[in-house]
Amino acid sequence: MPYPESHYLSPIWRDDLFKGRVAFVTGGAGTICSMQTRALVRLGANACIIGRNVEKTEKAAQDIATVRPGAKVIGIGGCDVRKVENLQEAAARCAKELGGIDFVIAGAAGNFLVSMEGMSSNAFKAVMDIDVLGTFNTIKSTMPYLLNSPDARIIYVSATFHYTGMPMQGHVAAAKASVDSLMASVALEYGPRGVTSNVISPGAIADTEGASRLLTGDEAALKYHARSIPTGRLGTVKDIADATVYLFSSAGSHVNGHVLVVDGGAWRRQGGV
Ligand code: HXC
Repeated sequence: MPYPESHYLSPIWRDDLFKGRVAFVTGGAGTICSMQTRALVRLGANACIIGRNVEKTEKAAQDIATVRPGAKVIGIGGCDVRKVENLQEAAARCAKELGGIDFVIAGAAGNFLVSMEGMSSNAFKAVMDIDVLGTFNTIKSTMPYLLNSPDARIIYVSATFHYTGMPMQGHVAAAKASVDSLMASVALEYGPRGVTSNVISPGAIADTEGASRLLTGDEAALKYHARSIPTGRLGTVKDIADATVYLFSSAGSHVNGHVLVVDGGAWRRQGGV
């Protein structure tokens, strides 16, 4: 689907900001990560997006490539972040075809609404494996290339559920707390070697499949929810893409080990959303 640039990027960034850089993005066909990638590619980067669904991932890569003439965007489907060998192959292909890896977005995530009572042990494990082990595998597989980059950055896409706890999201909250923690350790271990590591924590985003599905797609419920956010509105994919551009730009080069919450201040209210 064609998106106007104003949907995913503020008109304030320099056109060639990321010229010569290569981004490797897990979950890159999903709404948030595809828009983050779109913004990076629009500003000069080439990219490799990773997903489980082959058709969806390849289609997303083709769509993203249209934002800039000459852009190279590879879609690698059939890649399960729970399998480190899948990611190692994908990272090697990205480096071979695009010349390296400078930016990593660890965005692959599992999510469904389920009560503690209704959640099987395997359901909990599925989300922990995708979010936590998958993030570890992503870092493990891309780090050899990041260490060769003059400007290496990692962003982990987290959430805010784990600050307060969240009914029906116990598995996701536990997983995202682990992602935040993993980010901090990577920041300390690899900061001295030139790789920055930061989390972006989106709040509820209006225009994602995930939020619509999880928030029941009910417009009235979304409006009610928006009123509880201090800024008076739900987030947008542009909010997340702009934050990504900031962290990957030279303006963000001294930010390391940070959790950037992009939720209008909602998490500061007791009980979160
Ligand atoms: C209860 C469920 C379930 C559900 C799956 N399971 N869906 N339990 N309710 N809705 C259970 C299964 O019964 C099984 O347990 C276990 O989870 C593993 O399921 P599988 O389908 O075998 O696993 P797998 O194919 O690996 O898929 C895992 C998945 C994944 C987590 C369900 O397909 C997935 O996450 N899909 C959605 C991806 C997604 O939406 N990502 C965007 C996240 S956006 P048993 O015991 O039966 O073996 C986001 C932002 C949210 O997170 C913002 C909200 C405001």
